[in-house]
Amino acid sequence: MASEKTFYLETFGCQMNAHDSEKVIGTLLQQGYRQVESEEDAGLILYNTCSVRDKAEQRVYNRLNDHKYAHRAGKRFGVLGCVAQQEGERIFERAPFVSLVSGSASYRKLPEMLARLEAGEKHITGLDDQQTDQTFETEFAARLSPYRGYITIIEGCDKFCSYCVVPYTRGKERSRSSSSVLDEARRIAELGFTEIQLLGQNVNSYRDPEGKCSFAELLTAVGELPGIRRVRFTTSHPRDFTRDIVEAIDRVPTLCDHVHLPVQSGSARVLEAMAREYTPEWYLEQIGWIKAARRHISLTTDIIVGFPGEGETDFYQTLDLLDKVQFDGVFAFKYSARPNTPALTMADSVPEEEKSRRLQVLLERQREIQRANYSKQIGEVLEVMVEGTNPARGQIAGRSSQNKPVNFTWPQPIAPAPGTYISVKITKAYPNSLVGEAV
Ligand code: 5AD
Ligand code: SF4
Repeated sequence: MASEKTFYLETFGCQMNAHDSEKVIGTLLQQGYRQVESEEDAGLILYNTCSVRDKAEQRVYNRLNDHKYAHRAGKRFGVLGCVAQQEGERIFERAPFVSLVSGSASYRKLPEMLARLEAGEKHITGLDDQQTDQTFETEFAARLSPYRGYITIIEGCDKFCSYCVVPYTRGKERSRSSSSVLDEARRIAELGFTEIQLLGQNVNSYRDPEGKCSFAELLTAVGELPGIRRVRFTTSHPRDFTRDIVEAIDRVPTLCDHVHLPVQSGSARVLEAMAREYTPEWYLEQIGWIKAARRHISLTTDIIVGFPGEGETDFYQTLDLLDKVQFDGVFAFKYSARPNTPALTMADSVPEEEKSRRLQVLLERQREIQRANYSKQIGEVLEVMVEGTNPARGQIAGRSSQNKPVNFTWPQPIAPAPGTYISVKITKAYPNSLVGEAV
């Protein structure tokens, strides 16, 4: 390897992965590496991967394939994250030039693995085969945004939904102590971050190992730290969604008025086959609490269409649920059979074209719901956190507390800096964004 140690890191998948990458980058910088912007300039090329759907997994192999001769120039490759944990040493068979394969539960050992890599070892693995109960915390986490800080409060998952790889790729559920979460939150608040996002596969399943506070109490404590203006949390699981979370949002103004609560399906039969352990009625009851709040809390969800055995009636029940809840956003996916999961043994009975058709129908229905929801906000004045500019339209781009994209005009020649908060009067609405003017 060249005397200067350089690396390139690309991230696929969810916010947990994005934040893991921040920790990995921090660790590499600490080890004397310098981050570069392209594969061409890097001595070490890392992909932090996602295996939640087959498509995400294939993207990584395509990526590796694009660079399959680069190792001849002395470049090293590492596969991190969920595909690494899931595929393990099979990655070396498919892509022999890869030198490092590590799942997220082994990132604590990165400094040691990097040293072995530098010593010329060809195939190094960091795979969690003993179901670690440790979390990966590092005070060196690089912060990719200067105003939004991510904090992992719980890792892994014990829910074992029948379609999902996460329990196999990220191991068993383990929470961080509330004092270590609050220490980190306080530290980044002192550095000038004003928004904190608490992360976890099931963030609201949080259980303080010190027994000091519940999830809602932790939210409140973070929201009351000096300097913090926004607190978000993702992703919540309906099984563990408790009423005190809604009460906390109502009481603490810094807690954002947005809940992402994946429902997956509106059919009791499909939910049972998915092992979600709730019924549509149970879910709607929780939605009822959220809608009864004093603040207008925005709701978003995830849906899977074409799960094994999903019939027309089941699908209509999902559409019906969308009508009842009136979400502000839906992430919808076609079911994708995944290795190791219980659903793999069920016949993947819905043909691909039918999955695509259902997805299309669902997204169209949802678009109309959002068109109506978003247009109700015309005339409101919202606090928007600036994220950047949209030079094509001459507008400033940001997000409301409800996490809706807001583009707005700004009367002065110099644009407000990212991270500043501006009051914006909404003048126009699209199904996925709002438009307004600074007031
Ligand atoms: N197929 C399709 N979508 C899936 N998701 C998780 N596993 C699968 C799968 N096997 C979706 C769920 C989850 C989101 C992150 O990804 O909707 O909430
Ligand atoms: Fe993808 Fe799930 Fe892993 Fe996140 S935890 S990267 S969504 S497989």
